[in-house]
Amino acid sequence: MMKHLKEKFQELYGSREARLFFAPGRVNIIGEHTDYNGGHVFPCALTLGIYGLARKREDDKLLLYSDNFKEAGVIESSILNLHYQKEDGWTNYVKGVIHCFQEKGYVLPSGFDLAICGDIPDGSGLSSSAALEVLTGTILKELYEFPVSPLEIAKLGQSAENEFCGMNCGIMDQFASAMGKEGHAIFLDTSTFTYEYAPLSLKDHKLVITNSKVKHSLVDSAYNARRRECERALKDLQKELPIQSLGDLSPEEFEAHKDLIQDPICQNRGKHAVYENQRTILAKEALTGDDLKKLGLLLSASHKSLRYDYEVSCEEIDYLVDLAMEIPGVLGSRITGGGFGGCTVSIVAKDSLDQFQTTLSKKYQEKYQILPEFYLVDCGPGAHEIK
Ligand code: GLA
Repeated sequence: MMKHLKEKFQELYGSREARLFFAPGRVNIIGEHTDYNGGHVFPCALTLGIYGLARKREDDKLLLYSDNFKEAGVIESSILNLHYQKEDGWTNYVKGVIHCFQEKGYVLPSGFDLAICGDIPDGSGLSSSAALEVLTGTILKELYEFPVSPLEIAKLGQSAENEFCGMNCGIMDQFASAMGKEGHAIFLDTSTFTYEYAPLSLKDHKLVITNSKVKHSLVDSAYNARRRECERALKDLQKELPIQSLGDLSPEEFEAHKDLIQDPICQNRGKHAVYENQRTILAKEALTGDDLKKLGLLLSASHKSLRYDYEVSCEEIDYLVDLAMEIPGVLGSRITGGGFGGCTVSIVAKDSLDQFQTTLSKKYQEKYQILPEFYLVDCGPGAHEIK
């Protein structure tokens, strides 16, 4: 992949002298839809990600090429006037990050040439857009020697997605891509940005991602709607409770005050956010205490809550989770990421990996005529330059 990218860079831009960067995708073990509710998340950076070759230019142009969207060719912009344009496709994420850096006062003295390629499956919910944002931030930091920390890169990536691209996401994906650590998951409190690395050692089990290869439309609008419903739940609770976010509440406190939330749908959304935060805290304890059974139960409870209370699952994903749970040696399974398709994450005994993959492939294909894909999770490092 790297050799091809280097050749492509030379063919497009006439030079070999480019610097190589990488930013990973992520999988979230647990803590779904908690990051914009001031709760905890527990993701890890993957070894799948996006590679980018970049070189500064003498003028203010940006020449951007992705090997994953070959047909789009080189898309040209200028650092002087950056706007979201639908027809600019994937480059909007790059432009958005540059725009957010500029808004923060970082002045780019020139544009750059960029060629990227990645192995995060498209539409899988494993955060290819966050990886692209964090890749761009890392390239800007290194090429122009901007004094930005990985945390700031993550935040600028999130701003690009929120303000430039119109997706009101939380910080989890960009944080995981920027701050990942080999062999570790990241336990992050999104209300304070305090975090801890937890070794992802599952002994005789593996974390397995199953790609349903479905992505239902309206994901962004449904996601933004969930955010608004949580905000309404919070507002109602704040009439009596001095809280900043749903993440401030324990399940007991929520139960005692839930009737303050007028709308029953908003009450369910709030319930998910509060209980999921609690599950995430317990899951981190279970993982560090080697209690994989408990971790599995928490994952399955998370799925149930996302399916019924938060309503971000879908038929295909529910089928994959149900199939997984019928296989001996599977401790837990749930949808991961924003929802409405994408991937599941399951804890599977190493001895059962073959049966897991064969059964899910066969039955899922019979029902939906789609062959699912599997990735065994290896946690990799956060974004960096490859020298
Ligand atoms: C998407 C968003 C994240 C997070 C998840 C749900 O991946 O980008 O910020 O909200 O959905 O947990």
